[in-house]
Amino acid sequence: MYRTHTCGELNPTHIDAEVQLSGWVQRSRDHGGMTFIDLRDRYGITQLVFDLETNAGLCKKARELGREFVVQVTGKVRERSNKNPGMATGDIEIEARELKVLNPSALPPFTIEDETDGGEELRMKYRYLDLRRNRMKKNLELRHRMAAGIRKYMINQDFIEIETPVMIKSTPEGARDFVVPSRMNPGEFYALPQSPQIFKQLLMVAGYDKYFQIVKCFRDEDLRADRQPEFTQVDCEMAFAGQEDVLNTFEGLAKHLFQEVKNITFNGPFPRLTFSNAMDRYGTDKPDIRFGMELVEISGYVGGYNFPVFEDAVYTGGICAEKCASWSRKQIDQLTEFVKRPQIGAKGLVWVKYNEDGTIKSSVDKFYDENALKKWIDLFMARPGDLLLILAGDRVPTQEALSELRLEVGRQLHLVKEDDYAPLWVIDFPLFEWDEETNRLYAKHHPFTSPRVEDISLLDTDPVSARANAYDLVINGVEIGGGSVRIHDKDLQKKMFEKLGFTDEQARKQFGFLMEAFRYGAPPHAGVAFGFDRWVAVFSGCSTIRDVIAFPKNNSGRDLMIDSPSAIDPAQLKELGLTLA
Ligand code: AMO
Repeated sequence: MYRTHTCGELNPTHIDAEVQLSGWVQRSRDHGGMTFIDLRDRYGITQLVFDLETNAGLCKKARELGREFVVQVTGKVRERSNKNPGMATGDIEIEARELKVLNPSALPPFTIEDETDGGEELRMKYRYLDLRRNRMKKNLELRHRMAAGIRKYMINQDFIEIETPVMIKSTPEGARDFVVPSRMNPGEFYALPQSPQIFKQLLMVAGYDKYFQIVKCFRDEDLRADRQPEFTQVDCEMAFAGQEDVLNTFEGLAKHLFQEVKNITFNGPFPRLTFSNAMDRYGTDKPDIRFGMELVEISGYVGGYNFPVFEDAVYTGGICAEKCASWSRKQIDQLTEFVKRPQIGAKGLVWVKYNEDGTIKSSVDKFYDENALKKWIDLFMARPGDLLLILAGDRVPTQEALSELRLEVGRQLHLVKEDDYAPLWVIDFPLFEWDEETNRLYAKHHPFTSPRVEDISLLDTDPVSARANAYDLVINGVEIGGGSVRIHDKDLQKKMFEKLGFTDEQARKQFGFLMEAFRYGAPPHAGVAFGFDRWVAVFSGCSTIRDVIAFPKNNSGRDLMIDSPSAIDPAQLKELGLTLA
């Protein structure tokens, strides 16, 4: 037996009990004739005491222990004279009687503390050490509780968890595929699923009308804080269900998780915003609605003053930063630099100060008289003391830049409270996106998404204006999940492939099995998938999903711990029938 208790469970009810604990040495301190050791395991930390006077040999042994040594200790629980109310076991300590080193440890390359001195790359290389840190442990525990909460809710709602294969054929979610060569079929490749999309639709055809799966997905795309090449989805599909059924069911899931994991009750329905409203009001399809400062368009009130930037712009609009008219030149210059960053791409920033004393000062005083500026102030419903920040250009890029500016100003003004959550649904996404470069339509969600019934006729006349029965769940400005009502009619699906530029031959080759399945009684169906890593990150307050994944990859797609990807043996290449270019 290695232990009678864990390091997180002893309390004053155990006083005088003889116990045995096993764990890692977190730290040790010598205080006169005493040595104190904090012993750590997954459950907590317990203080061990070694007394030089009563047991010099043992105390000397304790003093030789290094950080992260694995030890087993036997002793008696006693009340602590110097209690630590911040610690679950802070009222007691163990008067050690025996000490056994189960395994020594090399000196860890960084301190295993909440505030560690290790940079992220180093911590990723020694991930198993990083995972010993309390913060990481909390994240993984939260992830586990969320997964358990999801399963509980879904099973209660009669959903069945079904696994789908990982070695498949390309799925069109818009990223590049990871591929796996087949030894038994030389020259042929499997693709790893970007999502189980097609399989879950086939499960609907098969009659499993409520499916879910917590599942790994793989996408070869540029990585960011909220993207990993392999990530986890909570993938769901329902048959005989439309948009309302899906939104209600999964709003229920979200509320259940908020309640069970965060102890937050949401009573009313989540707000719903159409895509076009979201763009107009927030400049993004994933708005953070924890604060206002919505975009205001003033395009109709800028012409006729010979200010070329606004004259030539399709869209002019901005935000009103309350009580910021006193911001210095330097502060505004910094914001100008911010919006001019290549990722944001604005050419410049126009400002209007509506001073406390009612006077107006702006960066475009040369062009606009006080009347014109007063009109803008009215449109923004600004009050004395407010600052208007205005951008102009093409509609969507300018709205997107304003969205970034709004978030940045919101950060600077501390408008967001920690542990404040604002979920919403964004609905009525466009069905297609037009790509100037390739001169063709792309599916905004994926090719199996159904158009809104009233927009089907637009497929032939004005496809870009057609709206989809597609929806996203957004929490605090993060796209947590997305889904759609699916096409279940093979002719409509065929037309969709046509619009997306697939020839009959290509469509048959890639999705023939789906079209074939649709000939055998496909029920109406709809579904959604949530980015589980993102959801956990939002609940844990982490700014990157790497912090909620046990063994993540870095932004170059590398696992620094196992050093992967790596070259393979020439013999292996040969066996696979591959030669490297
Ligand atoms: P979608 O492509 O929107 O939809 O993906 C669903 C959700 O998965 C998360 N996500 C990611 N998380 C981490 N790293 C990534 N690289 C990554 N890519 C996506 C996001 C996203 O909202 N089959 C459809 C769903 C459906 O229609 O039912 C799909 O995969 O949170």
